Amino acid sequence: MGAGLIIEEALKYISAKDARAAAMYHALNDRNRRRVLGALDGKGLKSLTRLVMKARSKVFREAEERTPGVAEGIVRTPAYLIDESLIEENMRVLRYVKDRTGCRILHALKAYASFATFGVMTPYLDGVCASGANEARLGREEFGKEVHTFGAAYTEKDVRAVLRYSDCVIFNSFHQLGRYGEAARRLGRQIGLRVNPGHAEVQTAMYNPCAPRSRLGVVHDEFERRFPAVAGQVQGLHFHAMCEQNSDVLQRILKSFERLYGRYLKGLRWVNFGGGHHITRDDYDLERLIGIIDAFKARYGVEVYLEPGEASVYHAGVLVSTVVDIVRNEMEIAILDTSAETHMPDVLLMPYRPHVMGSAEAGVKKHTYRLAGPSCLAGDVVGDYSFDERLPRGARLLFTDMALYSIVKSTTFNGIGLPDIAVLRKDGRVEVVRRFGYGDYRNRLS
Ligand SMILES: Cc1ncc(COP(=O)(O)O)c(C=O)c1O
Repeated sequence: MGAGLIIEEALKYISAKDARAAAMYHALNDRNRRRVLGALDGKGLKSLTRLVMKARSKVFREAEERTPGVAEGIVRTPAYLIDESLIEENMRVLRYVKDRTGCRILHALKAYASFATFGVMTPYLDGVCASGANEARLGREEFGKEVHTFGAAYTEKDVRAVLRYSDCVIFNSFHQLGRYGEAARRLGRQIGLRVNPGHAEVQTAMYNPCAPRSRLGVVHDEFERRFPAVAGQVQGLHFHAMCEQNSDVLQRILKSFERLYGRYLKGLRWVNFGGGHHITRDDYDLERLIGIIDAFKARYGVEVYLEPGEASVYHAGVLVSTVVDIVRNEMEIAILDTSAETHMPDVLLMPYRPHVMGSAEAGVKKHTYRLAGPSCLAGDVVGDYSFDERLPRGARLLFTDMALYSIVKSTTFNGIGLPDIAVLRKDGRVEVVRRFGYGDYRNRLS
């Protein structure tokens, strides 16, 4: 079929609100996707957005059905099982935002850096954002596109690698800019400055970059005093103030950011809106995000960057674990071969309750168990869950949404082994891409 016909066909499906339209759109090349968008009016674009989000939800619902069967094939637990086609589905939504707005999207390596699946990410995104030398190097060597690095304070030791592997270095203070800015310029790197946008709505202080006395981002009064003298050296401003939030929060943050910094933006090349955008969540208001970015670009004539981490791999992986023993102390306690403390630390830190497939809240189904880890930490407890059937020793449990902030944060506390990392490839094969052993534990210690 010629390009004209393919485009006509896609437009026909979009105007009929036919669910297949999203897949047709995603399969088009860059030029043809642009032509489809160019041919749609406001109503048509909104329809397409709804179809894109619905198509993603459907793929994820279907995956939920197949995951337990796939996990049965995992020979050794604990294991993170990453579903590559689900990552790609998230990527399609992110690319759609790029298509509509012309913004640039970087994947935040801090959330997920398992490069075995970068093959399904690089075609869709502009690059990565890194937190320092090691992530910058991984981004350059394994992702291979733009690398933007932000660090709260670069040491002399690290800054060489940061400058070597990054296209853009973002500083957290005027002091650091003064100290390393010249070296960055000599290497042709772009320079950014992180600012505190003066507004955030993150309830947990631990995750709120704008909490009182936050060290993250230059505060406004200091910016006012010192920025004019260095304005010519800086290409962009960066802020990060969100955590798992929708685009209404971004709108309110931008209102504050523009009030504080708006008059300095003309003449800059870009503004980076940071991460925390839960773009691939079912209820995320994508149209509002698109409207916000379009309006911002039009007002200031700058490029807009987003750097989500969670959204890239949201619900794209599970942690497969096995019940090792059941003990009793007022209730039945299942001791697993996985640990909240070592393999899903955000469960204790945030804290939050991960979903376990086939379970409900305590007391809802017939059999309630406390799920706990094998470590010495008394609080190494995932939570209380109920199940239709008794949990025998040897039963498999699947913790959902475990690709993000888990593999990158896992530890070997108590000498507990790290989970295998397995990838469900697009062709249905499960590939164990990494298996850890005693050496991985020992080599970190002396
Ligand atoms: C500077 C910066 N950018 C991006 C991110 C990614 O955020 P998320 O994974 O919530 O999208 C973070 C997370 O802490 C961050 O600190």
